[in-house]
Amino acid sequence: MKITVIGAGNVGATCANVIAHKALANQIVLVDVKPGLAEGKALDMWQTAPVNIFDTRIIGVTNDYLATKGSEIIIITSGVPRKPGMSRDDLIATNAKIVKEVTEKAVRYSPDAVIIVVSNPLDVMTYAAYLAANKHHSKVFGMAGILDAARYKSFIAEILDTSPRDVQALLLGGHGDTMVPLPRYTSVSGIPISQLLNQDEVEKIVEKTRQGGGDLVKLIGTSAWYAPGAAVALMVEAIVHDQHRIFSICAYLNGEYGFRDIYLGVPVKLGRKGVEEVIEIELDKDEKKLLNDSANAVRDLMKTLDEMKLF
Ligand code: NAI
Ligand code: 2OP
Repeated sequence: MKITVIGAGNVGATCANVIAHKALANQIVLVDVKPGLAEGKALDMWQTAPVNIFDTRIIGVTNDYLATKGSEIIIITSGVPRKPGMSRDDLIATNAKIVKEVTEKAVRYSPDAVIIVVSNPLDVMTYAAYLAANKHHSKVFGMAGILDAARYKSFIAEILDTSPRDVQALLLGGHGDTMVPLPRYTSVSGIPISQLLNQDEVEKIVEKTRQGGGDLVKLIGTSAWYAPGAAVALMVEAIVHDQHRIFSICAYLNGEYGFRDIYLGVPVKLGRKGVEEVIEIELDKDEKKLLNDSANAVRDLMKTLDEMKLF
């Protein structure tokens, strides 16, 4: 298994590191536009192999896509992250061009790879990669739902003083302020969250989840990387081991949930072939409205992408 990670910045390097630690690939190729960055980080990571005991060969290259040839998974993290005061949406003008360029180059050398997009604004960047890759939509998808749900679960574990591993939760919608955590589909070891927390507490956690990425930007001065990197690696694990795992990812909708020709966070079954199935769950009136609002926010941004006339 050969995996290419484009963008050797915070998220790209972190997910490569987790993938190596989990022994999910024989080879990881880190690619960056900044001379020496991917080479240096790859070398540093490779030098942890004798200490942390893994075999994954990690190499880094500057814009050399020939080195990525034959990859089965391509992870796109290249682009600019948010600075304090910016929304994910402010990144579109810069990142759309980068995502288009790197996708086209990577697909040329790895036509059969599945593509995981991370760059923001996520839902629209995933759509851009889909257009640039010219592949079936089951092979191009984005990471956000696992991260957003992880934040949601971590807040629940914190307030209940329980293990995060016992928290089950689902979250839909775009990766932005309109994301839709679903308390009705949240439980702790099978116990509905409504029996453990009152409505006010749940609402506060939902709001904190929506602001989770932004709060980290305020603290760090750039966006997060540990949880995003780990979330990407979880998707890679599901693909590499053909686990048919169900979790929310940014997937193409072709009529599911009443939406067509849009990428949005929904539960899917993920395995070696990519998205095997979009799973439609029953939503009540309020949940449907929230999902609609989220889809509308993504559609607005898709118009901006359209106006850029890149495709
Ligand atoms: P970073 O700035 O640390 O790394 C980005 C890297 O991309 C840099 O090293 C840069 O040189 C490289 N790059 C830029 N143009 C390139 C090109 N044409 N080819 C190859 N490499 C190129 O940023 P970070 O923190 O790693 O974030 C990366 C992206 O991921 C951002 O857009 C950020 O908003 C997004 N993100 C998305 C998350 C999600 O849940 N989907 C979570 C966290 C970040
Ligand atoms: C996050 O949610 C910035 O999208 C990134 O941390």
